[in-house]
Amino acid sequence: MELLKQKIREQGVVLSAQVLKVDAFLNHQVDPVLMQQVGVEFARRFAGQGIDKVLTIEASGIAPALMTALALGVPMLFARKQQSLTLGGELLTARVYSFTKQVESTIAVAASHLAAGERVLIVDDFLAHGQAARGLATIVEQAGARVAGIGIVIEKSFQPGRGELARLGYRVESLARIASLDGGAVRFLD
Ligand code: G4P
Repeated sequence: MELLKQKIREQGVVLSAQVLKVDAFLNHQVDPVLMQQVGVEFARRFAGQGIDKVLTIEASGIAPALMTALALGVPMLFARKQQSLTLGGELLTARVYSFTKQVESTIAVAASHLAAGERVLIVDDFLAHGQAARGLATIVEQAGARVAGIGIVIEKSFQPGRGELARLGYRVESLARIASLDGGAVRFLD
């Protein structure tokens, strides 16, 4: 997706060979025009898949997931990482290890918001090791719902996430695929 690549080139900051900072437009300050295009593009790629709901994880997945849900005309649901006073009743949970932050957390969704048989599109901002997407997929499957696909805004293709998700049989669509961050430069795969 050209606008996304342009933003990454112009405003992304390579912090190391592993980490790209995109705080200027994706996961701190958020560019609404870019997010709208992201939503339209995911909706186009997953058109005809009978998506009933878009699922993401707080915080940075919410903006692209919401715009995707808007474009598809379906609800957006986000898994919580923190206990919430209002998150009651039966919960669907998964343990997610963050390699970037080196902490494990439990993510949770109220079971009442995911129904058996629903077709769910998972959307997230980054794909690195694939832990977040795997945790979300586990939650979908606990509900008896189906993962219709996984939409990723920025995939770090040099990390193992895509391979893991593909091995598990999920369709992954990424809007920008980064081949390497070596030498402080972003090199795209395609
Ligand atoms: P995984 O989810 O694919 O397994 O990735 P990993 O454990 O490595 O990443 C955990 C967190 O770090 C995620 O955010 C993910 O979005 C973020 N992250 C991974 N690689 C990068 C990167 O190169 N740049 C930036 N900016 N973030 C990266 P999170 O813990 O869910 O945080 P948030 O959604 O609250 O922001």
